[in-house]
Amino acid sequence: MSVVERARRVLPGGNTRTTLFVPPHPPYAVRGEGAIVTDHTGHRVIDCNNNYTSLIHGHARPEVLEAAFEAARSGTAFGLPTASEVALAEHVRDRTGIEQWRFCNSGTEAVLMLLRAARAYTGRELIVRFEGSYHGTGDAVVSPGAPGVVPGSVLVLPQNDLPALRAAMRDHGDRVAAVLIDLMPNRAGLTPADPAYVAELDALTRQHGALLAVDEVITFRLHEGGLHQRYGIRPDLVSVGKVIGGGFPVGAVGGRAEVLSPFDPQTPDGVSWGGTFSANPVTMSAGLTALRLFGPAEIAELNRRGDELRSRLRDAGVAVRGSGSLLRLMAADTTKLWWSLYERGVLAGTNGLLALSTAMTPAHLDHIADAVIATLRSGSAEHR
Ligand SMILES: Cc1ncc(COP(=O)(O)O)c(C=O)c1O
Repeated sequence: MSVVERARRVLPGGNTRTTLFVPPHPPYAVRGEGAIVTDHTGHRVIDCNNNYTSLIHGHARPEVLEAAFEAARSGTAFGLPTASEVALAEHVRDRTGIEQWRFCNSGTEAVLMLLRAARAYTGRELIVRFEGSYHGTGDAVVSPGAPGVVPGSVLVLPQNDLPALRAAMRDHGDRVAAVLIDLMPNRAGLTPADPAYVAELDALTRQHGALLAVDEVITFRLHEGGLHQRYGIRPDLVSVGKVIGGGFPVGAVGGRAEVLSPFDPQTPDGVSWGGTFSANPVTMSAGLTALRLFGPAEIAELNRRGDELRSRLRDAGVAVRGSGSLLRLMAADTTKLWWSLYERGVLAGTNGLLALSTAMTPAHLDHIADAVIATLRSGSAEHR
């Protein structure tokens, strides 16, 4: 029996992660090495998915693996804290200027923790977020009408619509715990937020005593301290994940000590939040090593390569969006696009997302450009 048939017997639809499903079923990965993934048929592809943007150095970067092995040899998880969580927190504090951090196992969990912190700190309930942005799978951040969802007190606004934001803050501002924004939402097409809009959002949250929360789970890779630093804002809370775990499960919320104080176990009536595997030393050590290898020079170089690839694609008539090392191909039929690229040796996100890694060489980037151009010229994915 094939692995696909076996999967369909024991997993609903043969699937664990909706985000990587492509009909009739995706191939199975068997090996990752640098920029290359080999699937169960022996087909080799350049990895532009990078586990949905998280593998900033591609697969099996020796220094990151060595850090993970070294940590694992001394124990993979403990019922005690380890110094590795302190070291990673110090590193992200120094990168961002954001005072305190609390780790968890995914971006979804980071956003849940961020919302809990915002509500606990302000004593308010209402969360404002934006249409089309993905913040993981918590009830408060998915489509309010979706099956099984109990959304709670959440207001969803169109992003970049200033009159709608002003009206919402005028009518509800004093009930808003936090406004949660992704400054370049992938699901919404990877279009960077308008700086004038973000400046007004910043001012309005302050005026109404609401917290400004930036979801940097994807965008942290674009700037040493996260994309918000390009906007010159100082969010009260940020959620991060993906690249900070060096390829292992991770999430974190960062903020001022005062705002995160509800998590202090000695705070009376504080927030009780555990997590059996949160801040495990394997993730913390791999993450710290991956981030140390991704400083300002590496970030700038990867962003430059992304900008160059985007220009090259645009010059060839491809509809492409994004910024720096994150690109999004805009196609009417993303399934056709995905398969067509895959057959040409490129693994994309199922929505047309391309995330570059430091493991890619100029030859890989040439191959990616040629594959995208050939795919769109072949008509297997019309522009949207
Ligand atoms: C902006 C953003 N927030 C949160 C998440 C959820 O992260 P995770 O998949 O690690 O739960 C994602 C995942 O893609 C994301 O892009």
